[in-house]
Amino acid sequence: MNQNVTMINHPLVQHKLSILRDETTGVKEFREVVSEIASLMCYEATRDLPLKDVTIKTPVATATFHALAGKKLAIIPVLRAGLGMVDGVLTLIPSAKVGHIGLYRDPDTLQPVEYYCKMPADISERDAIVLDPMLATGGSASAAIQIVKNYGVKNVKLMSIIAATDGVDRVTKDHPDVPVFIAAMDGGLNEHSYIVPGLGDAGDRIFGTK
Ligand code: PRP
Ligand code: URA
Repeated sequence: MNQNVTMINHPLVQHKLSILRDETTGVKEFREVVSEIASLMCYEATRDLPLKDVTIKTPVATATFHALAGKKLAIIPVLRAGLGMVDGVLTLIPSAKVGHIGLYRDPDTLQPVEYYCKMPADISERDAIVLDPMLATGGSASAAIQIVKNYGVKNVKLMSIIAATDGVDRVTKDHPDVPVFIAAMDGGLNEHSYIVPGLGDAGDRIFGTK
């Protein structure tokens, strides 16, 4: 596996992912489990956050402990499906700001089409985590990362729940500086470029639109 890619194979994540894959899982549970997996993945994706020493007086003694240092964070869900990961990440990083990128994959050309973008005003001073549960051809994630970089963000990470090898290859080639966190690497894509076995259309399953 590419050195920029981290597979999160924690048993809790793998168990929850099987729930997502099951076609009988309904919209309520699907949404809840996407959010839970996003939290667990966020825990790993933020493992390298820098710390600084802080002096704290406990009820017993004064001592040196740790607090987060470094740049503040922004999370950037790719609409629509990335929205399902937002609450889970904000559970761990409640003060992160949230930017939104609206992209859909044209069903014929498979090219990402941008229809919305709204970033926090101070985005260039933040580190960013792009959220999209599905990394299929990689076109959408690669375009979203480029949009974030165009705002001047220096450190970008990508969190996707299920990736196809094509998608990982595309993103790591287009953006060799971007660490990618995934919970599964599925083999291939079908004739509609859906991940096989995957979990189907993530946006439709999160929002109940099919
Ligand atoms: C899905 C998914 C990704 C994209 C992945 O979005 O959420 O954004 O497809 O495919 P790719 O790697 O081949 O680009 P979709 O276009 O279905 O839009 P939606 O989230 O609004 O349903
Ligand atoms: N988008 C999805 O939602 N699912 C896939 O399998 C591929 C792209």
